[in-house]
Amino acid sequence: MANKSCFSVVVLISGSGSNLQSIIDNATDIGVKIACVISDRAGAFGLTRANNAHIPTCVVGYKNFTMREDFDRELAKNIHSFKPKLIILAGFMRILSAEFITQFEGKILNIHPSLLPKFKGLNTHQRVIDAKEKYTGASVHFVTNELDSGEVIMQKSVTIDTNDTAQTLAKKVLQQEHILYPLAIKKIIQNYR
Ligand code: GRF
Repeated sequence: MANKSCFSVVVLISGSGSNLQSIIDNATDIGVKIACVISDRAGAFGLTRANNAHIPTCVVGYKNFTMREDFDRELAKNIHSFKPKLIILAGFMRILSAEFITQFEGKILNIHPSLLPKFKGLNTHQRVIDAKEKYTGASVHFVTNELDSGEVIMQKSVTIDTNDTAQTLAKKVLQQEHILYPLAIKKIIQNYR
């Protein structure tokens, strides 16, 4: 098993970073050291969360690149400089190229707000309501070249009430995500060879 105290990860964000916060808060229990938080948006609140926790940050602004591949190469260069064992996507809103994913194969995790394989992609909560589902939830999975389709590591379900809206559901699912992501990362680290 890897030495837990030095299990280095890089977290990629685009926005609020509430999942990042949960990983920061549980880092000791999970056994990770966040080497850097990288955002594709300079204004992402998650960068403030990282600064408050004295974690190095870096912005690779997607608007500075016309070609997705060039953005991905710059992102990969930054990630390599930290030599992380895992790359954790936490609300990172860019679809990564096959070239990027291949070079970090088996090392990229994502959290998605549905019970995969159901409701891949965006706007999940409204689609869940429209489909009159009784349950939804969140999934942590490995990232592969196919969107939201890699092996599921762990899931947590949420009951849908008749008066739930996409907004109330998003809030309920997010609360569960904050519990789920640290547990799933811990599980991966414990199995890491
Ligand atoms: C979460 O709902 C996550 O499932 C999705 O993006 C959202 C990120 O929220 N991939 P936050 O930035 O962690 O608050």
